[in-house]
Parts: sequence; C-alpha cells; structure tokens
Amino acid sequence: MIDSMGTMRRTHHNNELNLAQVGETVTLMGWVLRRRDHGGVIFIDLRDRRGLTQVVFNPEVNPEVHTKAHQLRSEWVIAVQGKVEPRPGDMANPKLATGAIEVLVDTLKILNTSETPPFPLDEDTEVSDNLRLQYRYLDLRKPEMSANLMIRHQAVQTIRQYLNDQGFIDIETPMLTKSTPEGARDYLVPSRVNAGRFFALPQSPQLFKQLLMIAGMDRYYQIVKCFRDEDLRADRQPEFTQIDMEMSFVDEEQVMDVVEGMIAELFHQTRSIDVQPPFTRITYDEAMARFGTDRPDTRFGLELVDLTAVAAGCNFKVFRSAADSGGTVRAINAKGCGTFTRKELDDLTEFAIQFGAKGLAWVKIKEDGSWQSPIAKFFAAEEQQQIVERLEAEPGDVLFFGADSSAIVFQVLGELRNELARRLELLDKDRFDFVWVTDFPLVEYDDKEKRYQALHHPFTAPREQDIEKLEREPGDVYSRAYDLVLNGNEIGGGSIRIHDPDIQMQVLKALSISAQEAEEKFGFLLKSLRFGAPPHGGIAFGLDRLLMLITGSDSIRNVIAFPKTQKATCPLTDAPSPVARRQLTELHIRPDWKE
Ligand code: AMO
Ligand code: AMP
Repeated sequence: MIDSMGTMRRTHHNNELNLAQVGETVTLMGWVLRRRDHGGVIFIDLRDRRGLTQVVFNPEVNPEVHTKAHQLRSEWVIAVQGKVEPRPGDMANPKLATGAIEVLVDTLKILNTSETPPFPLDEDTEVSDNLRLQYRYLDLRKPEMSANLMIRHQAVQTIRQYLNDQGFIDIETPMLTKSTPEGARDYLVPSRVNAGRFFALPQSPQLFKQLLMIAGMDRYYQIVKCFRDEDLRADRQPEFTQIDMEMSFVDEEQVMDVVEGMIAELFHQTRSIDVQPPFTRITYDEAMARFGTDRPDTRFGLELVDLTAVAAGCNFKVFRSAADSGGTVRAINAKGCGTFTRKELDDLTEFAIQFGAKGLAWVKIKEDGSWQSPIAKFFAAEEQQQIVERLEAEPGDVLFFGADSSAIVFQVLGELRNELARRLELLDKDRFDFVWVTDFPLVEYDDKEKRYQALHHPFTAPREQDIEKLEREPGDVYSRAYDLVLNGNEIGGGSIRIHDPDIQMQVLKALSISAQEAEEKFGFLLKSLRFGAPPHGGIAFGLDRLLMLITGSDSIRNVIAFPKTQKATCPLTDAPSPVARRQLTELHIRPDWKE
C-alpha cells in the first residue's frame, strides 16, 4: 500500500510557491497536516519544516487520484505532482507565504502512513510536557518548535561568524575529565580500566580554557555542552550549552566590548532588533540595594527603598528589632495598587512567606493621605511622613515592607517586586533590557559549612586594591567578576582570572581549601600558573537561556531539541535506565539496591 518515490524528485519546498509559478508543474513532498472535503473536492495542507502549501484533489482533474486521496490521514507522508493555480475568487490567504496559490494534483504517491498522533499538531491544544517529550519527533514538527530550532541554528552560525571575525579559535575540550569548580554536583562516569576512579562530566570548560590561554592560544571559544546535577527549574537543564570564551591580555572593558558586539549581532540577525551597546552597568551592591537581586529586571521600577534609619526609632517591634540587630527594613511602593483586595494582600503575604519572610507589612495610602494599615498605629505622624516621602507615596498606592536580615529582605522583596510586575503586567516581552552587574564580592559566607565559598569560582581575580584584605577580611574583598543580565535572567557570567600563583594560593586559603586539597583538585592548574601564565579573562553565556528570551519561550526546553524533564529524565529514550549487573561489576561497582 506504500508507494515508492520512484523517479519523483521534489521541485519546491512547501513555503516557496506563489503567483510567479502559476502554470508550472511542480512536485511537492511532506506531511498531511489537515484534510478538508468540500463538495467532492479534497483540500490538503501539506507541511514541511519550511511551511504549508494547499494541494487540491479534484475528481474532474483525475478521478483515480481523487479516490486515492480519500485515504489520506494526519501525518501521512505524500508526494504530489500538479499544476500551480491561483486560488479562485477571494480564497487567497494573505497570512500564508503560499496563500495566493494552490496545486491541482494529478499524481499522488503515498510514501508512508502514520498512526494517529497522540496529540493534534495543527492546534494549540494543551499537551502534557511528558507526552510532548515522549513523542518529541512529532512535537518538533509543530511550526513554532521547528522555528525555534531554526533560530537556534541561525544564532550559532551568527556567533561563530562573529567570534571567528574577532580572531577567536574554536577548540574542543574533554568531556571525560576531572571535577570543575562551578560548585554544582557532578555527573560521574566510572572508569573500567582504573578501578575505583571516576571521571566527572565538565560543569564548564573553565580550567581547560585557562590552560589554553597559558598555552598561548590568545582567544578561544567553544559552543559546548556542560553538565550539572542540580535541582531543575524552567531555566535550568542538567545538560545545557554554553557559548564559552576566554581572552589573553585583556581587562573587563575589553571582554565586555567583544561580548556586547556579539549580543548586538545575535539580536540583529535572529530578531532584527537593534540593541544598543554599551549596556548599563551597575555594581552588585547597587543591584541588591535597588532590586534585591544580582539579576535585576530593569524593565520596570518598583525599586526597594531603605527605611532602616526610620525604623530604628519607631514603635513597631518587628521593624525596630530588625534595625537594632544589624538587619534591615526596606519597602516597595506598589504604585496605584490601592485597589488590591484583602485577599490579594493575603496572597502576597503568603508569597513573601514562601521566600522566608515572617510576614509582609503593608500600608494603603488613602485619598486624604492617611494610612490604612495594621501597623499604622506604631508610627508617629512624623515617621509616617518620612516614609511617605522616601517612597514618593501618593493616595492610591500600597507600600510593602520587609524587616529581617539583609539576605532575607533582599530575597523576599526582590521576588515580590517581580511578582508585582507580573500581576501589573509590566513585563514587556518585546523589550530587551541588558545590564552588566559588576564588582561582586569575591566570597560569601556559607552558614552551613561554616566557611567562605567563592561567589563565582576560585579562579576569579580579586580587585587589586582589595588583595591586602584577603587574609583578614575576605568578606570585604570584591572581585573582577561580571554577569550579563537580560530582563531578570542571568544569561552570562565571567571574570578576569588570577594568573599569579601566589595570589591563587591566597584565595584558596581564604576559601579554607588546604594546600593538599588544592593539589588534589586542581594541582594541574596551579602548576601551569607557574609556567608563564598571561593575564586573561573570559565569560560563558547560557545559549539555551539566551534563545529562550530571543524566542519569547517560557522554558529553555522549548529551544532544546531533546531536553530532559524536571526530574532529569528523558521520556523519549527512557534514560536513565537500569544496566546489567555484569556492566556494573566490570566498572567495579557493587550496588546495594534491589533490582
Ligand atoms: P556560570 O556557572 O555562571 O559560569 O555559567 C555560565 C552561564 O551558563 C548558564 N547556565 C545554565 N543554563 C542552563 N541550565 C543550567 N543548569 C545552567 N547553569 C548555568 C547561565 C550562566 O550565566 N566557567 C564559568 C564562566 C566563566 O567564568 O567564564 C561558568 O560556567 O546562563
Ligand atoms: P504582627 O504584629 O505579627 O501581627 O504583624 C503585623 C504586620 O506586620 C502583619 O501584616 C505582618 O504580616 C507584618 N510582619 C510581621 N513580621 C514581619 C517582617 N519580619 N517583615 C515585614 N512584615 C512583617
């Protein structure tokens, strides 16, 4: 029942025909998207990854072919030959590239049949993510999905072209390697040949790209898979792709300059959007103070305002004790949200509590300027006045307050700020706000482990003027790291690296990494620094995240051909899957789980 293609050769793709080809005999191939029967005439929308063409089976043109067309069902694969005709009367569809014509078929070959797809491909039906991933080859037939993959392709071409032109060379680095310092959990690969030893899949090519600078490669890039075994979210996958680069003899400005050019070219080529470098820069401290986060969405206001000084003298115990115990009191003015109902305020309080708040004090400013609030009574008129002034509050506004340690207040109000923007529909999908966040602290204190951890990674250079503080006040040292943030998403991060072996040892010491541990983990890098390491720095971008934003998708899964689920599984191949005991024995692994 399946025909062979025989000598038929495709003459056009399904997005190509228009009035210019009227009268030509053409051969098209593709999948049946829809079949419509109209008074004896059968219309098929024929689809390939490029587009749709309407093909017509008219019993008066060829009764046999028309009869055969009756069998056709969704997703069958066919070849048709026929004449291009203008669509009659007012039947043209201006939304479709081929909408002015149709093909009147006189030869039909059925190249394959298809089972009924588990979900329709021609409409916006809600389909579970699991089912979409299980039948990914069908899901990818949808125009929006294949368009995403085409944009991805175009993005990669653009990036390669740009970096090649800038003198970067593409060098591959190993996938079977040693644990790298990004700080997530590793994916491990047991060694058969070396009992009890493991490779780690790279969390990034960080150490290798530094070695390449020491090797004199000057400018390196790679579009490369990275692996991190971490809890997954909409913008995280266990394997994801970085645009990774490193440059010798550069400072921050030079790295940023090259990268801004790349981003501008990328947006121009993929979306015809002209973004305007140089991008805004703010320091980490300013980002935290104004937005409560180091990845601020600057498309809207709702900035945080510091009220600690006012709170220190007030009668509200929660605020005063936060101020007195070294914490902070900050607030956001939700402009014009005086119409929020009690339920909405309760929901927002719940939301704040999820992020660690003990409550969410609020104040509605009434028409006469007075306060409607459970905490109004704790504030003298003068204090109320100060708060109103600092927040530029007007009748009809609602003020939200956070009082706690700085870490909690920033976390809560930072998230609340984004939530308010979602509710107020302030997130313009067509706006692209880039911000460089610079001057990160070099380390942060890890309360659980009771020691300092690198905020980026241990090879990030401290600012020169702070080096003397490394030993006694590591918490006060700032680094030469920078992140690029787009609409509240961290799309890239990098730094100028340490190239002086002594400073590298001092930083490792500040991180409580002993000489022995340092030697075991990255002795090879420490040694290489002693053989003429040039000053160098670089950055890596999350390609999937960039594409998610470029395509306006709400998950990076939509820009990855074969992504994993939230639980790090692949419903299509059913990976990860069990293996035979024998394989484990070969790998010198003795499992203690039951089969
Ligand atoms: P970093 O760890 O910041 O830096 O990673 C760089 C960028 O990669 C993206 N990214 C991810 N994307 C999807 N899923 C994930 N699980 C994931 N994790 C990170 C982010 C991030 O900004 N070696 C350093 C770079 C350097 O210093 O040059 C590094 O890997 O967009
Ligand atoms: P209470 O005195 O506990 O009834 O709290 C009065 C108001 O302050 C309520 O709206 C609480 O949600 C809010 N609140 C309590 N603790 C905090 C806090 N740490 N930060 C901000 N608001 C708080």
